[in-house]
Amino acid sequence: MTTDTKNDVPNSESEGEDEKSFFARGVLLGLFGGALAAILVISIFASVLSLVDDVFGSSTAAVADSNEPPTGEASLIATGEDLATTKGCVGCHSTDGLDGVGPTWSGLGATTDDDYIRLSITDPNADIAAGFAPDLMPAIYADTLSSDDLDALVAYIGSL
Ligand code: HEC
Repeated sequence: MTTDTKNDVPNSESEGEDEKSFFARGVLLGLFGGALAAILVISIFASVLSLVDDVFGSSTAAVADSNEPPTGEASLIATGEDLATTKGCVGCHSTDGLDGVGPTWSGLGATTDDDYIRLSITDPNADIAAGFAPDLMPAIYADTLSSDDLDALVAYIGSL
């Protein structure tokens, strides 16, 4: 009797282990399936996003391209916009049409040319904007801006 019981116990334990491993396999399969489903959902989501980006991204690029030559120009303009902030120009110049300490840059691209804009930056007193006093704009930029910085700022201001 005692021996039987001893034999029974290991048997029922090993059956229990079988059930456990069966259960564990089920859980693993479930996890695996779930992971696959998640990957599927994520990749569908990603392709929808890239589709949206293609549609809207290309339409934005088309607008930018309509009056600017290639994409290099667009990145030059973006660099110029950053520089206008980091070099402190926006403390005196706006792009919203309202004059500050200096004239707004709005419309400058349409009414002047790159040479004028470049000279206005490197030699501010060479050609004083109407209604503004000389010696207000710092005459430091010929020394402090690299020629790449200058190209980017001229491209940006010329695009406004
Ligand atoms: C302390 C104020 C101040 C700062 C800073 C300043 N400017 Fe000016 N800017 C002026 C004033 C005032 C004028 C108008 C007088 C003149 O033409 O010099 C002017 C004129 C200009 C013009 C000609 C505008 C026109 O309508 O003819 C350009 C272009 C220009 N600035 C670009 C820049 C850039 C680029 C920077 C930064 C790198 C800068 N400015 C920083 C005050 C400033």
